[in-house]
Amino acid sequence: MASGRRDLAAATISLAVLLLLFLPSTAAAANVPSIDATRTRHLPLPRGLLRGPESVAFDAKGHGPYSGVSDGRVLKWNGHKLGWSTYTYNPDYSSEACTASLLRPETATEGRCGRPLGLRFHLKSGYLYIADAYKGLMRVAPGGGEATVLVTEVDGVPLRFTNGVDIDQVTGEVYFTDSSRNYNRSQHEMVTRTGDETGRLLRYDPQTGKAVVLQADITYPNGLAISAD
Ligand SMILES: *[C@@H]1O[C@H](CO)[C@@H](O)[C@H](O)[C@H]1NC(C)=O
Repeated sequence: MASGRRDLAAATISLAVLLLLFLPSTAAAANVPSIDATRTRHLPLPRGLLRGPESVAFDAKGHGPYSGVSDGRVLKWNGHKLGWSTYTYNPDYSSEACTASLLRPETATEGRCGRPLGLRFHLKSGYLYIADAYKGLMRVAPGGGEATVLVTEVDGVPLRFTNGVDIDQVTGEVYFTDSSRNYNRSQHEMVTRTGDETGRLLRYDPQTGKAVVLQADITYPNGLAISAD
């Protein structure tokens, strides 16, 4: 009996999983073409000392990927013929000051030039939200250009190491992480080495422009993902 009930439970769960696989959770998700995982491609970065795509995002049309790089910009991939173009940058970015060279590695300039880490589009509005390690939470309107800084501190505590971002596509609320109160991105090894427990999970409400702390004292919160429910 017990085993029969377990089998039934297992079958119900598999069915639920299959349904989840086949039923897109939102209409927006249905519009984003899926990626053929059997084919992998190399998307080489533009020439220079650019490094470190930390995350990727696709817009509502499935175009991209978009990715942040070490000189502070977010680039858009336009296919193999056109390659990468600059999509957005923070208000302090300048190509003269921020283009890395052997004399001026990006680790020396990233405090000023920014370092985009988490990226996510709000599919309905077309806004791209950017968690920039040094600039805080930013957003850029459809089409890109200069981003607007939305949040640099929450509850009076400055964002020191803004890292991951995800968006509730229904409400438009933005969830993001600040990895540490003590260490910035260039000191990321210290976060691990010291067992730092001062990270925070935060939420930004685009209606009110306010951000709140959902949870404090977390060990190195990094990426985050919202489930369908
Ligand atoms: C990171 O923090 C350290 C210690 O406060 C500081 O010396 C350094 O300038 C900061 N780095 C950047 C790039 O802001």
